[in-house]
Amino acid sequence: MQLLALRAQFPALEQTLAGYPLCYLDTAATSQKPQAVLDAMASFYRDDNANVHRAAHQLSARATANYEQVRDKVQAFINAAKRQEIIFTHGTTEAINMVAWGLTEQIDHTSTILIDSAAHHANIVPWQQLAKRTGAKIIAIPLDANGRIDQPAYQALLSNGASIVAMNHVSNVMGTVNPVKEMIAQAKAAGAITLVDGAQAIAHMPVNVNTLGCDFYVFSGHKMYGPTGVGILYGQFEQLDKLSPLLTGGEMIDTVSFEMTTFNTLPNRLEAGTPAIADVIGLGAAIDFIAALPQAATKKREAELLKYLQQQLQQLGQVTLYGAHQDNLGAVAFNLADEHHQDVGILLDQQGVAIRCGHHCAMPLMQSLGIKGCCRASIGIYTSVEDIDRFVEALASVKAMLFD
Ligand SMILES: Cc1ncc(COP(=O)(O)O)c(C=O)c1O
Repeated sequence: MQLLALRAQFPALEQTLAGYPLCYLDTAATSQKPQAVLDAMASFYRDDNANVHRAAHQLSARATANYEQVRDKVQAFINAAKRQEIIFTHGTTEAINMVAWGLTEQIDHTSTILIDSAAHHANIVPWQQLAKRTGAKIIAIPLDANGRIDQPAYQALLSNGASIVAMNHVSNVMGTVNPVKEMIAQAKAAGAITLVDGAQAIAHMPVNVNTLGCDFYVFSGHKMYGPTGVGILYGQFEQLDKLSPLLTGGEMIDTVSFEMTTFNTLPNRLEAGTPAIADVIGLGAAIDFIAALPQAATKKREAELLKYLQQQLQQLGQVTLYGAHQDNLGAVAFNLADEHHQDVGILLDQQGVAIRCGHHCAMPLMQSLGIKGCCRASIGIYTSVEDIDRFVEALASVKAMLFD
């Protein structure tokens, strides 16, 4: 599919802001949604709306079939061994909280939790809460001078013993890609449970949890052209089955009496209450949409575009890039001289250019980089060379405005 035809499927991209055509470079925060996703959700509410798993009537049976079909799609999409290994959550944050809560009984004051220094707060705070409950120790896996995991330091930490290793697949700030397959194998050899935060990877690379060998892999629908309100917790069956449920109530039970409750089997045991049915349907449409794209060509185009973005920023001068490598995915982090990142963002916005500025929910990473915050431009399947050119031109004019 040609880029113009692809872009035409994302209605939100067709607007102007303050007289400028929208230049959307904030896909890492949330991607725009194709018409197919909007249609699938509208059609669910219009034609199939009923609660799932509950009623004996046909509408509910149809809603349940559509909902459960998405579980199969997700299973195939990430190559999970069993459909019960796919748990619908409300997003990455909820999924990590479910794991961190669920492991409480398996962790104690002798346990160590290793966390990627570039992790998003969603992959830090739930572990801190787990450590508070259990007395476990948290250790940050340091980064090297290039913003990548310091592998020798990681090996040394593992050799001291680790119960859990929580890592990024791709950094939401810099776009750096962790060698997760190797890191997982090393963590497993040290006896640790592994969780990979795939929120920024899932839209940019094929993910095969079977090959990766991780215990848990989590991501959000809204960063992969699907709706907000839905995410995935993948876990190896034996690991998921051992998690204590964070949420309890309807649907996750087998029997209830005032004396005691017994829990349902997976996946229901970890899906209490009415799920985000329409959002799950939207996620299914997003997976279909991604799966229909020519995979190799799309990946190549995105990689070239990111390289072009890095080069153009470097050529502009007085721009500091953080952890910019050729094999990064999706995002570029930068500052313009010592201008405040927020000022840069606001001035770009006045020209219709949408980027993200701040600490990007990664304050420990900001500390590692020795900065308070930065700007981030991020791309998706619909981003064009023209978008990058417009952004860099706008940044040049911001630079002239601030420096002259
Ligand atoms: C790497 C990473 N992890 C976790 C999250 C949290 O995702 P959500 O807000 O969808 O739960 C994000 C969102 O920006 C992210 O980029």
